[in-house]
Amino acid sequence: MSMDIAALRADTPGCAHVTHFNNAGAALMPQPVLQAQMDHLRLEARIGGYESAVAAADKTDDTHAAIAEMLNARPKEIAFVDNATRAWGAVFFGMPLREGDHVLTARASYASNFIGMLQRARQTGIEIDVAPDDEHGHVDVEALERMIHPRTRLIAVTHVPTNGGLINPAEDVGRVAKAHGIPFLLDACQSAGQMPLDVERLGCDALSATGRKFLRGPRGTGFLYVRESLIPYLESPIVDLHAAEWTRPDHYELHPDRRRFETWEVNVAGKIGLGVAVRYAMAVGLAEIRQRIDSLANRLRASLEALPGVTVHDSGLVKSGIVTFSHSEHAATLIKERLLAQHINTSVVVPSSALLDALHRGLPDMVRASVHYYNTEDEISRLTGAVRTL
Ligand SMILES: Cc1ncc(COP(=O)(O)O)c(C=O)c1O
Repeated sequence: MSMDIAALRADTPGCAHVTHFNNAGAALMPQPVLQAQMDHLRLEARIGGYESAVAAADKTDDTHAAIAEMLNARPKEIAFVDNATRAWGAVFFGMPLREGDHVLTARASYASNFIGMLQRARQTGIEIDVAPDDEHGHVDVEALERMIHPRTRLIAVTHVPTNGGLINPAEDVGRVAKAHGIPFLLDACQSAGQMPLDVERLGCDALSATGRKFLRGPRGTGFLYVRESLIPYLESPIVDLHAAEWTRPDHYELHPDRRRFETWEVNVAGKIGLGVAVRYAMAVGLAEIRQRIDSLANRLRASLEALPGVTVHDSGLVKSGIVTFSHSEHAATLIKERLLAQHINTSVVVPSSALLDALHRGLPDMVRASVHYYNTEDEISRLTGAVRTL
């Protein structure tokens, strides 16, 4: 079924004001996501924050149900948190790692995740190994498998990196992790909302994501999937009275489900908005979204590559909606500013956002133009036209 792009754009207030190619930063919210949050904020103002949360319990419960449905998981395996970094950290810092334990990752690692690994290496003495890439830039899964040893406790890989069009072969990593009985934590922050994600097919034991990017949800929302069988082994460094029950003066019991990764206080309007965004993405169709993004992103890459002075930096055989480029004569920040002056939104990715990959490939500061299904061919022409006339 083909998408009704005009209708989807009409349902996106921002499309009337900006040409938005910053979907890997934060996508434009559709009207129902905006409306659901505003309705709840008005209810909070009218009857009180706690009272309105009780009244909206069906809606917040549905956020867990919607995410579970999207991921082929169960609601009790889906925690609602404030962002992808918190989600990822709830698993990583919740693992009982000791000195000499080994964590295996890949070059496309996101900065905040790798900083977390360095922090635990410094505090606990864990060892971090980075698997190399294959000739196309994907994580080399055979090499990764050879790097597994008896003290490998976790495999943590970024699905779609922040700094380029690569899609890592998460399913292959999942197969290797399963064969060796090692938990696999997938950072799906940039892939959630731009492609179908099925945790069974991916073979991951935990998956972290954010609401504001390709899912088109509110800022300050994120979620975590943890396979039920892994939950009992994880205890976050921060545990509150929602995550655990204080049963005796000297004792608490962690909840056996997703609650142990959450906190009591949440942005209820944001949580409702995230659920609506996930249902919206499923109604549009994640396979259709993937197809449309792929076609638009490839078109954008081809148009940029044809421009004098422009280098497109995306690696990988099959690519995501993230397009990165630099210009031989103009700095990335200047390009971003010039585009912004024409109401064209992009962002700049700096080497430190994915340092291992940036150093390996010698990447400069790059302009990141990330497409979503509601972008159009005309918008791509506007963007490339603006770059041509810099
Ligand atoms: C690949 C990747 N992982 C994790 C994150 C962190 O997400 P958040 O800012 O929601 O914590 C980002 C953010 O850009 C990202 O691109």
